[in-house]
Amino acid sequence: MLSNGLGELLHREAPSHSRFVDLFCGSGAVSWFVAKESRHPVLAVDIQEYGVALARAVIGRTSAVRPSRLKSQFVAPAQLACQTAPYWREANGLDSMGLCPAEWTYRARRLCSTADSGVIFRAYGGHYYSPSQAIALDALMRLLPAKGADREVCLAALLIAASDCAAAPGHTAQPFQPTKTAGTYIQEAWNKDIFLYVCKSLVEICALHAQVRGTASVDDALAVAASLARDDLVFLDPPYAGVHYSRFYHVLETIARGRCGAVSGVGRYPPPEERPASAFSRKGESRGAFERILWSLSKVGCTVIVTFPAGECSNGLSGQTVLTLAERHFRVECTRVDSRFSTLGGNNLLRSARTTIHEMILLLRPANRTSARAAPQQQIGRARHAGNSRLASERAWV
Ligand SMILES: C[S@@+](CC[C@H](N)C(=O)[O-])C[C@H]1O[C@@H](n2cnc3c(N)ncnc32)[C@H](O)[C@@H]1O
Repeated sequence: MLSNGLGELLHREAPSHSRFVDLFCGSGAVSWFVAKESRHPVLAVDIQEYGVALARAVIGRTSAVRPSRLKSQFVAPAQLACQTAPYWREANGLDSMGLCPAEWTYRARRLCSTADSGVIFRAYGGHYYSPSQAIALDALMRLLPAKGADREVCLAALLIAASDCAAAPGHTAQPFQPTKTAGTYIQEAWNKDIFLYVCKSLVEICALHAQVRGTASVDDALAVAASLARDDLVFLDPPYAGVHYSRFYHVLETIARGRCGAVSGVGRYPPPEERPASAFSRKGESRGAFERILWSLSKVGCTVIVTFPAGECSNGLSGQTVLTLAERHFRVECTRVDSRFSTLGGNNLLRSARTTIHEMILLLRPANRTSARAAPQQQIGRARHAGNSRLASERAWV
């Protein structure tokens, strides 16, 4: 989306506002983009800690960090700690036996379920990670710098590495199982060197920083919306699936929190009370939640950008519904673009993990004023914005 219309729109709108607020920051990609490209502070919010940790690692810093220092102060000690960690020898033994996926998984699960070790080893060893990868992740979590930018950058690098190495299809709703077809993906994932991936992520994140320091917080967008200011540019990219995001990202959430309770099920889920839940992901509540957030933002008088899939989604909303709700409180400019998209199993029409779908980008201006500072009309993506919202939406929907 950032390279498909959204980035241009943000470039155009941000200068006439005093702060950018990403109320559903997720991976932090949009917050990073605005923090790097504009001279405005960013406030990033999400109900999941891992998303806030990723956003904070970049938007909370105004200068680059040297990755070589963090490699020697964080990664190298963790590598050393593994050498003396319980079960390291047994775990490495399993890695080097050349077992078939079924046997490797069986033995790995047996080792991790009988042994009392770190949280990743206990909860996810033999499932999302090999026992040796799990020991490495536990050591890295234990040896994260205590505070400050070093901790934020190292935690983000660890989250990205853990996501890249998980034996799961794109997200961690369920790990691959050692079947005839999926077994090879387990081998591929379990052969990844966690330390190498952390170093790679460190190099990438250390170089990124904001122009002006921003903040990130774990919070409910509905609660934060009412506290915003008139000159804020607010971005809404809310859930579209009728399943809570915590189902897909609980492994990363455990790493961000540093703990999790007893896990259960094929997905190795933590107990329900540890899984953030959202009204936007409940079919019966999503419309009301959207109405409330739009109403709050219109009362504040801020300008809002919303992205949402055009078609009907499994949380009961569609781009058209969102457009209709928005037009009650705002003057709306609508653009329709094609995106490569993760369905999270949530799109009713197309079930493959990534697919092309139509997405709407809505620019909502307060109904009772022109804008914080009027921005010029400009072509964006495949459609052209029009001042008349009805016209624009018709053009988008024809
Ligand atoms: C579609 S994703 C956002 C993706 C994000 N724009 C990115 O670049 O990765 C939706 C996000 O909303 C978060 N979320 C769901 N309900 C929320 C709420 N009430 N308040 C804040 N965040 C919420 C989810 O945890 C998820 O990260």
